[in-house]
Amino acid sequence: MKDKRLGVALIGYAFMGKAHSNAWRNVASFFDVPAIEQKVLVGRDADAVAEAAAKYGWAESATDWRSVIERDDIHIVDICAPGWMHAEIAIAALQAGKHVLVEKPLANTIAEAEAMTAAARAARTRGVQSMVGFNYRRVPALAMAKDLIAEGRLGTVRHVRAAYLQDWLSDAESPMSWRLRKETAGSGALGDIASHAIDQIQYLTGQSVLEASGVLKTFVEQRPGPKGMEDVTVDDTAWATFWLTGDMGASVEASRVATGQKNSLQIEVYGTDGALTFNLENLNELNFLDATLPVREQGFRRILVNEPEHPYMDAWWPQGHVIGWEHTFTHQIRDFLLAVDSGSAPSPSFEEGLQVQRVLSAVEESANNKSTLTVVDHKSFATEGA
Ligand SMILES: NC(=O)c1ccc[n+]([C@@H]2O[C@H](COP(=O)([O-])OP(=O)(O)OC[C@H]3O[C@@H](n4cnc5c(N)ncnc54)[C@H](O)[C@@H]3O)[C@@H](O)[C@H]2O)c1
Repeated sequence: MKDKRLGVALIGYAFMGKAHSNAWRNVASFFDVPAIEQKVLVGRDADAVAEAAAKYGWAESATDWRSVIERDDIHIVDICAPGWMHAEIAIAALQAGKHVLVEKPLANTIAEAEAMTAAARAARTRGVQSMVGFNYRRVPALAMAKDLIAEGRLGTVRHVRAAYLQDWLSDAESPMSWRLRKETAGSGALGDIASHAIDQIQYLTGQSVLEASGVLKTFVEQRPGPKGMEDVTVDDTAWATFWLTGDMGASVEASRVATGQKNSLQIEVYGTDGALTFNLENLNELNFLDATLPVREQGFRRILVNEPEHPYMDAWWPQGHVIGWEHTFTHQIRDFLLAVDSGSAPSPSFEEGLQVQRVLSAVEESANNKSTLTVVDHKSFATEGA
């Protein structure tokens, strides 16, 4: 590996900032990656970000992301700020020649996502890489599911079901936050968690959504804010059905009011020769049915995805010593660093993030139009990745 240490700046130090810090801190302990330095953690409150920097292993803290991304000793900018800031920070960082990892969804609007993709494409020609944080691609069981599908073990995939269910808004007294305002979050359950499910459907099957039909619902229309009751301007729940390339159909449900469901991403894939099921709440497990076996022997087998043969797993513990949600971020940073080191484009790229954004937009358009089947705008997508 190269001698030069890659200086990292991370923007945002709350939920995702903490998860990414943990991954930056431990990635080199488990994977053979280029050396990095956790240089600077950026937030708005000087004291709070200084405290977080000390706790999470960052050498320094700062409150002005603009001056940080100009520094010569910063080579990578990791954006864990809310969606409304992604475009401005990512474009400025790419233009300053920094590799960028940005949390999902790529942006709040198609226009922002397109501008980010254009900046990423221009940066790539200068050897500057970029990636979106759809971290569930790095769940070993889902990476393995993708391999099984690509190897043809399911035959032709016809039907995928995905549900991403949470319940943190079941309580009508849960307070307002940036996640519940359209101008800061873009959308609600749709952009926040259906985006993960849509990315998974396309990633697992290698197919792209062509048409969407959607329903969005805000069950609790006002919530308590710092200055009294405020209007909630995003959806609590989203439903969508999709037609994809490969004559495939899929459905997605995303909810923040699914009482009793905490963070349940459920995925079922049905093909002519087999089927797979997965639930994030048991993320070390993949259920696989091989329909080429005699019918009397068929049945879902539970594969404990914890063998050194499984994706990412040879770096961790002896078999059966299960891993958790936080490991997906370590895997994500491992893959990002290897791509930066080899000069290859990491995936999911901003192009892929933009395509998910276009699917989200089609769902929203359909929902605003009595669920009319709506064509996903693929304008120039096919050539964008080139
Ligand atoms: N991959 C996942 O599973 C996952 C899970 C949750 C959130 N996310 C995504 O991560 C991103 C952040 O979400 P979160 O849950 O961490 O939010 P959060 O509210 O917990 O944290 C946001 C952080 O951004 C910082 N911030 C806001 N404005 C800033 C500014 N001007 N300068 C510097 N820092 C600023 C805040 O101080 C805070 O530290 C969003 O895009 C969200 O969709 C991804």
